[in-house]
Amino acid sequence: MLDANRTDLVLGVVGTGTMGRGIAQIAAASGVEVRLMDARPDAAEQARAAVSGMFDTLAGKGRMTAEAAAQAGARLRPIACEQDLAGCHIVVEAIVEDLQAKRDLFTRLEPVVGEACVLATNTSSLSVTAIAAPCALPGRVAGFHFFNPVPLMKVVEVIPGVLTEPWVADALTTLAVRTGHRPVRAADTPGFIVNHAGRGFGTEALAILQEGVAEFAEIDRILREAAGFRMGPFELLDLTGLDVSHPVMESIYGQFYQEPRFRPSYSLRQRLTAGLLGRKTRRGFYQYHDGKQVAVTPPPIPEKVERLPVWVDSPELAALVKAAGWEPDWGEKPGAVSLCLVAPYGADATHTALSLGLDPARTVAVDPLFCLARRRTAMTTPVTAPEYRAAAQAVLSADGTPVSMIRDSAGFVAQRVVATIVNIGCEIAQQRIASPEDIDAAVTLGLGYPKGPLAMGDALGPARILQILQAIHDFTGDPRYRPSPWLTRRAGLGVSLLTQEN
Ligand SMILES: NC(=O)c1ccc[n+]([C@@H]2O[C@H](COP(=O)([O-])OP(=O)(O)OC[C@H]3O[C@@H](n4cnc5c(N)ncnc54)[C@H](O)[C@@H]3O)[C@@H](O)[C@H]2O)c1
Repeated sequence: MLDANRTDLVLGVVGTGTMGRGIAQIAAASGVEVRLMDARPDAAEQARAAVSGMFDTLAGKGRMTAEAAAQAGARLRPIACEQDLAGCHIVVEAIVEDLQAKRDLFTRLEPVVGEACVLATNTSSLSVTAIAAPCALPGRVAGFHFFNPVPLMKVVEVIPGVLTEPWVADALTTLAVRTGHRPVRAADTPGFIVNHAGRGFGTEALAILQEGVAEFAEIDRILREAAGFRMGPFELLDLTGLDVSHPVMESIYGQFYQEPRFRPSYSLRQRLTAGLLGRKTRRGFYQYHDGKQVAVTPPPIPEKVERLPVWVDSPELAALVKAAGWEPDWGEKPGAVSLCLVAPYGADATHTALSLGLDPARTVAVDPLFCLARRRTAMTTPVTAPEYRAAAQAVLSADGTPVSMIRDSAGFVAQRVVATIVNIGCEIAQQRIASPEDIDAAVTLGLGYPKGPLAMGDALGPARILQILQAIHDFTGDPRYRPSPWLTRRAGLGVSLLTQEN
């Protein structure tokens, strides 16, 4: 019904703060006429000046021509009252995140704009259906959820509410493509795609911390250097600020009726109450001086280490021991003094030692999923003797690769976090919240993960991820780790996690 590619498209942007300005910028740059409206006097004019200034800066850097910058700037028109939105084809609101305020705005706008005008909301946490409910024409309301900073975060979630008509989501999809953004279609569910898929990274890291498996900085090092995430979960919590992230965690957990996969950590609430918000208060998990993170020194590497014979349970570890130049113990059962290195998936060191009939005092488990990365992870049983712990650390770091020594944990650190991310991604697909391709696109573009959750699962092997989750689930009895049916079926069939059902 609405062709968002038409050359005379007029977009209204209500709320010209951080997000409104970004949306106005990408729209004006793609040839759309933009009307800017804000409740604060002068705010719309300030936004126009700021976005025009941005075009000039881009022209100065050669990213657009001076002529294109001038034309884009001329497409921005601050308006003083809502009546001036008459004639808009689409109005997107980026006002305060408050259900009543957004409902009031849309019900006020309905008699002003034409019946064919789309009303879009940039809400990140409210239900699109709830915003649309009091409207006379709820079918024209949809979510259009951008990420900050809008011009750089090239993804937008298009969210039809329960009553949204197909042409409305289609028009927003076309507009997104016109502005150079990748539209992803998400059902109106808590957190949509990105904030839903992103839950596992922080909550599982917090569960690992709460369990006493490793210190926060060690967890960050493992996830950055072994698993390849750009930032550790505790660095990310500090950057976002606990005042923002903890309420989101609680809200998503509540909206999914206490789904154990999203269970937040009580310790985060305590830290929030204490005011340890992160970078903005110069103290979160890390400390900050002059805006820079104060480095947390890794624990020292033991100096005097006795070279013990090393017995291993897998070829990957045998290769590591050989490359390190340590004496391998090729016996079917380890010799009387040998260090026993094991490589479990999903199991802890203690039960791996017990199941193989090994001496737990001489056993150390190495994470086989990420043992060739820039960092290795090894974990001890509660009774591993200090000289065996030190020997394991020495042999695993003989080629210069740093080793994180952690306490016993079913699934180490990276296996737990990665399997959780894959499992949540699978569940988003299972619930038909979004298509597999859109889930992966939303997560790579919106969260900057090295791969989307489904491609991540495919790279490591769906059967492997299932094995890890089942083992953690068996050990803990925690339904948080129950595998998604999407994963279980595709692992059983031996097909990609991107496989849709006909
Ligand atoms: N900042 C983010 O990272 C981010 C990301 C995605 C979505 N969002 C969502 O975008 C929306 C805006 O967020 P923001 O960070 O740009 O906020 P902001 O505080 O920077 O800007 C909001 C603007 O809206 C104006 N405003 C408030 N109530 C209004 C009303 N009733 N009518 C007209 N103008 C009004 C304010 O004066 C302000 O200029 C929120 O719904 C938020 O949840 C924010």
